[in-house]
Amino acid sequence: MKSLMMNTMDPDEETVELDRKFLDITTVQGREYQKYSIDNRIYFGPVDDEEAQSLDLQQLLFHRIFDGRLIFPPLRRLDRILDCGHGAASWATDVAEHYPGCEVIGVDIAPHMSPDNVPDNLWLQIDDLNRPFTFPANHFDLVHSRLLASGIDRSRWPSYVRDIVRVLRPGGWVQMVEIYFNVQSDNGSITDSHALRRWSTQYMRSLDDRKDLRVGPRLQDLLAQAGLSEVETKMIPLPLTAWSSDPRMREIGRHTGECIDDLLFSLALYPLTRRLHMSAENFDKLVEQAREEAKDPSLKAYFPMYVCIGRKRQ
Ligand SMILES: C[S@@+](CC[C@H](N)C(=O)[O-])C[C@H]1O[C@@H](n2cnc3c(N)ncnc32)[C@H](O)[C@@H]1O
Repeated sequence: MKSLMMNTMDPDEETVELDRKFLDITTVQGREYQKYSIDNRIYFGPVDDEEAQSLDLQQLLFHRIFDGRLIFPPLRRLDRILDCGHGAASWATDVAEHYPGCEVIGVDIAPHMSPDNVPDNLWLQIDDLNRPFTFPANHFDLVHSRLLASGIDRSRWPSYVRDIVRVLRPGGWVQMVEIYFNVQSDNGSITDSHALRRWSTQYMRSLDDRKDLRVGPRLQDLLAQAGLSEVETKMIPLPLTAWSSDPRMREIGRHTGECIDDLLFSLALYPLTRRLHMSAENFDKLVEQAREEAKDPSLKAYFPMYVCIGRKRQ
């Protein structure tokens, strides 16, 4: 195990001292945010220990949903993997442990949630994915990008995917996962007056000028337009609680239920209170009501999750 932190996208460079500007924190209602991200409107989610724990819990949820599979494309050769926006490095660590002979590189704008010790074959670096990649072309066998909708700029998506394609080796694959946080109901019982609907609408609106929170349903087109082949998308409903009659979906709903209280609060805290200027009191009330509704099985609420893969042509 080793601890390594760099603020460069060049994996061959020596470890360099972390630039202080990436470490500064700003606090909102007791939650910690990276000041650099907030000031530059890169990312509006917390980067504290609570968020790192939340991301680790979500990794268990993904584990359940994907039956323990970390990598979906049929890859036979795995020498180098890039994880975009590694967060608490939950996926990157699992992959590095699973493929000890593979070099795994994680890139994130915030170093705060990176674990102190990581496997020897995992390197975590700091950079803004909204800027052009500096990795060499034809380098990675797989590029993974999960839950980046609130971090990649709206106008950046086409060039972000093109950058990913450039750094993939011919025949390499991209794997993307995005949750569309606009609540849906299987029986149409969620109305505009429900707190879950108001939460979704305001969350979508709060970042609309910078980010495309509806990117999930667009992944198929984005990957195809970037010239990838064998592009496949699957929409998986994430039930907010155990309402499904299908035993597997009921269990997934139970797991989502364990994450949902945190998600409803942490995703929307900065966007709603600082960008839409909602009072702290109204925010707490909205989140409390939305949490109650998420637990109501009669609403059959879910968030659609999009999983998309594509292959760079040989
Ligand atoms: C919701 S978390 C997801 C983390 C991880 N991908 C996962 O699925 O557990 C989003 C992460 O992406 C990072 N991020 C957001 N926008 C970014 C950007 N433009 N460049 C680099 N990292 C970014 C954030 O700092 C955060 O750690």
